Amino acid sequence: MVPLASPASFATSSIELRRMPLFQKQRCAAARISPRRAGDAAGGAFARRDHIDESGHPVYSRGEIGRESVAMQIRVNGTAHEVDVEPEMPLLWVLRDVLDLTGTKYGCGVAYCGACTVLVDGAAVRSCTLPAAAAAGKDVTTIEALAQGGTLHRVQAAWIEHQVPQCGYCQSGQIMAAVALLQTTPKPSDAEIDAAMTNVCRCGTYGRIRAAIHAAAQA
Ligand code: FES
Ligand code: FES
Repeated sequence: MVPLASPASFATSSIELRRMPLFQKQRCAAARISPRRAGDAAGGAFARRDHIDESGHPVYSRGEIGRESVAMQIRVNGTAHEVDVEPEMPLLWVLRDVLDLTGTKYGCGVAYCGACTVLVDGAAVRSCTLPAAAAAGKDVTTIEALAQGGTLHRVQAAWIEHQVPQCGYCQSGQIMAAVALLQTTPKPSDAEIDAAMTNVCRCGTYGRIRAAIHAAAQA
């Protein structure tokens, strides 16, 4: 598998992922319990991670707002947001739970599937493993910002033309990865597409994705 086209400090590469101890993978996977939902379950709107239990899963509980959080600025889709979150909170949770940008999806939580792909300073990054602190001061672009003034991005238009989405769950991540690819490789070959598009699609839309990227490259 080809490592993500992102700065090493931004995301766990596939090689790093394979070397990651099991308990760390379990902790990441357990993060499917988002901080906000964990907080709701605990009776509050804010949650903090208290400790790791004996199974290696993080345990969340209601916390005092700002108790372990840090104020930071993250620019998302051209707008600077002041957020007050734990520095290690995954960017994905900041986007979905703090900023209510739910177009970016949660899949595996371990930087494998790509459902959470966004652009950070133009590079495709898996936001489920990128700490919020690492995104501070960066430009983050999500699927919500691709269409401009009611006009779809050429990749989105090609996706529709080629009827790429099936269940659709992986597709916002696939589209963001394709946008990043075309920014660095305007006319990618099949081999370059296959090497760059490491996102997983359980519906098996890979052939349509390849065709749509070629179409977008011609647009
Ligand atoms: S949810 Fe981030 S890579 Fe799967
Ligand atoms: S379209 Fe269903 S997972 Fe990709």
